[in-house]
Amino acid sequence: MIPSIAHKFLRLLPPEDAHKAGLRLVKLLRPGKVELPEGIQLKTWLGRLAPPIGLAAGFDKTGESVAHLSGLGFGYLVAGSVTLNPRPGNKKPRVVRRRGEALVNAMGLPNPGIEVFARNLSLGVPLAGVPVVASIAGSDPLEIVACYERLRGVVAGVEVNLSSPSLRDAAMIWSEERFSRLVELLASVKWCPLALKIPPLARTELRSHVLRAVKIWVDRGFESITAVNTLPVSEARLSTGFGGLSGRPLNPYMLETLRELGRLVGGNCEINAVGGIFTAEDALQAFRLGASTVQIYTALTYRGPRVVRQIVAELTNMLASRGARSLEEILP
Ligand SMILES: Cc1cc2nc3c(=O)[nH]c(=O)nc-3n(C[C@H](O)[C@H](O)[C@H](O)COP(=O)(O)O)c2cc1C
Repeated sequence: MIPSIAHKFLRLLPPEDAHKAGLRLVKLLRPGKVELPEGIQLKTWLGRLAPPIGLAAGFDKTGESVAHLSGLGFGYLVAGSVTLNPRPGNKKPRVVRRRGEALVNAMGLPNPGIEVFARNLSLGVPLAGVPVVASIAGSDPLEIVACYERLRGVVAGVEVNLSSPSLRDAAMIWSEERFSRLVELLASVKWCPLALKIPPLARTELRSHVLRAVKIWVDRGFESITAVNTLPVSEARLSTGFGGLSGRPLNPYMLETLRELGRLVGGNCEINAVGGIFTAEDALQAFRLGASTVQIYTALTYRGPRVVRQIVAELTNMLASRGARSLEEILP
């Protein structure tokens, strides 16, 4: 395990350098078996997951680190986002910290392209029982489907990310006509469970389009929705002048989106909650609003590599104090 002193040192570096150094340190670890208390599991779009806590997209953009990241205690990992062709991303600085355990990023989806990404994933073997999901992004339905097909047999599920603030033409892909075309194309070649990653509903000008798209997705029988991506904000320290907010301040927007999803599609699809999950209490609040998994990104950068085990330990204590043996027993 990376000692907390190394984590404190990383916090002194600019965030993107800290991230790179953190990933290098993680690669020095030999993933050992993670002992999990039996009750911390749920039925999810990827089967039963223990724990139902995933690494969110964007942390391992190249798919090179899944083997090592699986040793941090996650129940599943989302690698990417990847696009059909390689992208350099935006000019630096493209990530800054904000007070209150938050980040603002305008990475611009840097990635090595689907070919290299798929090869990286097939080389890294995560711990047994830790499924890997690929996040694929794009604004052209044909490109997205080409990425999906290239991943056949490489991952356990795919998350379709149409919600990065840096995607150009985002409005177009959410339009009813284009989105329906994407859904039909995916349905015609579907080989694994699919999740759709959406922006926070309260603050997107695409709100009505996204709500309609969610309905189309769920009516087609696709398995899952991941809510939410980052919240667009102005940020003068970034080269772009704006970016996506993540971490604690995103949490209320995520919870509000879960409530809306509950009203729209409640019970008909599995929901992955992501946005400011730092503690067991945060995770439990999301589970109570209908999520069957939570995902984490910013908490890992502020709280360090032990954060997943801490959340699992806190959940275990909560169960014990209520005399319950499983999460399911204490959820509505
Ligand atoms: C630096 C950075 C890069 C990200 N890159 C991606 C990405 O490539 N694809 C994606 O779907 N989400 C990406 N995200 C969004 C996260 O997956 C997540 O939805 C968001 O950060 C909210 O979760 P958190 O508050 O736990 O960080 C990124 C977030 C950060 C901070």
